[in-house]
Amino acid sequence: MNVLLTGGAGYIGTHTCVEILNAGHNAIVVDNFSNSCPEAVKRVEEIAGKKVLLFEADVCDNRAIDRIFAENNIDAVIHFAGLKAVGESCEKPVEYYRNNIDSTLTLLEVMKKYGVNNFVFSSSATVYGTPKEVPLVETMPSGSPTNPYGWTKFMIEQILKDTAKANPKLSVVLLRYFNPIGAHESGRIGENPNGIPNNLMPYITQVAAGRLKRLGIFGNDYPTHDGTGVRDYIHVVDLAKGHVKAIDYAANHKGTEVFNLGTGVGYSVLDIVKAFIKVNNIDIPYDIKPRRAGDIAECYSDPAKAEKVLGWKAEKNLEDMCRDSWNWQSHNICGYK
Ligand code: NAD
Ligand code: UFG
Repeated sequence: MNVLLTGGAGYIGTHTCVEILNAGHNAIVVDNFSNSCPEAVKRVEEIAGKKVLLFEADVCDNRAIDRIFAENNIDAVIHFAGLKAVGESCEKPVEYYRNNIDSTLTLLEVMKKYGVNNFVFSSSATVYGTPKEVPLVETMPSGSPTNPYGWTKFMIEQILKDTAKANPKLSVVLLRYFNPIGAHESGRIGENPNGIPNNLMPYITQVAAGRLKRLGIFGNDYPTHDGTGVRDYIHVVDLAKGHVKAIDYAANHKGTEVFNLGTGVGYSVLDIVKAFIKVNNIDIPYDIKPRRAGDIAECYSDPAKAEKVLGWKAEKNLEDMCRDSWNWQSHNICGYK
């Protein structure tokens, strides 16, 4: 298949691109490099030993996207492109709604024009809002995300469900990611956040690298086994492989299907810190800080549906995640620069 990956130069996009190429598909990437760089795609080519067709364009630009569809015989689209920083989305809600929703609408319009009917979307566990119970199952209600970023994911899911209902040829797969961490085992691609990281693992690796002094742990009074927040961390390569299964599924089904992509195991912040220290033999100094606004105590998936229906299951463990995160960061102290 010829697979278009929007935002394919980003963290999850690059890892998925490698797996798409490894599975024998062709990869076409469109990215505006608002949070990435062309070097990341060069490294994908180096790892996979295959070429990627790369277009620098904004997915909200209907004419640019139309040209890409006109010139390439696209079979399936994986839509990663989006703004994703929770805190920033509270400060710049209009930019988030414009970018994330407009890019999706543009793709749907152009896909319809060119008769492309397979769509895989990067959704998030954030659509479940504050969970009433865990593990989270796809049939549980979504809604009430705690920030504008989460609302863009919720709204896009609805737009895609409505569009698939109106167009019986369309196949939509909504992938709800839990907490992706880790990096490709080569250490050539990985997460490269702008500025001070918001997320736990890039913060830890930057402390380990000496770029940041100490980790702040946001709260140790949650009702969890050690008082710190619990999440379902998933290795980004496992997550990437889930997308290969999802495009195969989309090619053979119609309508909308939702899948959690997680491991089903919850680890606390302290579990992650201790595992990182043990696996990499590097100290991570930390301080306990007040809770971060909007955080929840516990969030982890029931991933059974993805295993049953897609034949996908996360294979890597916490040790792999900690080792590969540090392998990437230690060989690329300043990311792709
Ligand atoms: P990322 O920022 O590394 O990748 C997103 C890519 O999209 C970047 O390369 C960016 O330059 C590009 N982009 C953004 N807007 C664009 C536009 N209008 N046109 C063209 N390119 C554009 O983020 P990521 O972690 O790889 O996330 C990928 C997707 O997965 C996002 O939609 C994100 O919301 C979703 N997601 C991520 C996480 C996570 O923790 N990383 C969790 C759940 C869902
Ligand atoms: N944490 C710290 N210190 C830090 C950063 C995080 O203690 O410096 C803690 C948080 O309080 C939380 C845990 O580490 O308990 C994980 O926090 P992250 O920011 O790494 O991840 P979140 O679960 O808050 O959110 C992530 C993505 C969202 C996505 C969500 C569910 O950032 O975009 O997972 O997929 F919606």
